[in-house]
Amino acid sequence: MTQDREPRPVSRSSSELIRWMSLQDANSAGFVHGGVVMRMCDEVAGIAAIRHSGCRVVTAGMDRMTFTEPVHVGELLRCRACVNAVWRTSMEVGVRVEAENAVTAQVRHTSTAYLTMVAVDEKGEPVEVPRLIPETPDEERRGREAETRRRNRLAEREEILGARQASGEIAG
Ligand SMILES: CC(C)(COP(=O)(O)OP(=O)(O)OC[C@H]1O[C@@H](n2cnc3c(N)ncnc32)[C@H](O)[C@@H]1OP(=O)(O)O)[C@@H](O)C(=O)NCCC(=O)NCCS
Repeated sequence: MTQDREPRPVSRSSSELIRWMSLQDANSAGFVHGGVVMRMCDEVAGIAAIRHSGCRVVTAGMDRMTFTEPVHVGELLRCRACVNAVWRTSMEVGVRVEAENAVTAQVRHTSTAYLTMVAVDEKGEPVEVPRLIPETPDEERRGREAETRRRNRLAEREEILGARQASGEIAG
């Protein structure tokens, strides 16, 4: 676990994973499985979260995953992650996914994902993470949008738990 609890800029933990999409990643029509893209998003989000926190991290949730265009066998898949916001022990990491045709250099934005990663100690208990320093207007905007997603997530949870309690169902 890190000894350095100083606030850290977003740029310090920004991470990128690139992988060539092969036949094993795709269905018989040559379209890459969504699960392959999700796994790469989870991996790169984990790298960014570890770099920011200096700790082991676990994935607590994936808030949203959009697939706007299919990815094809033979394309390069590039997943770029940065920490958008941090709270006490959790961090929202945003991932932008692009597919590149290496021959033509044509790049398409194919997915966006938002994951919540939680820093944990050796026993798996959540631990505090350093504060985040946004340095650009884009980083500030992403931070505001992450706050909105967290507010909505917590409000949804509260509403569902409240409704279950009101109807006498056991919360699960
Ligand atoms: C994530 C985990 C550590 C949270 O533990 P917990 O006992 O619920 O801890 P807490 O209630 O103190 O929550 C810790 C933080 O996680 C956040 N959190 C917990 N569940 C969450 C969820 N489903 N979605 C988003 N955030 C979540 C809390 O908001 C809190 O954030 P904060 O400290 O920044 O406010 C625990 O649920 C866990 O280990 N889950 C399994 C993770 C896993 O195996 N992932 C897949 C492989 S990596």
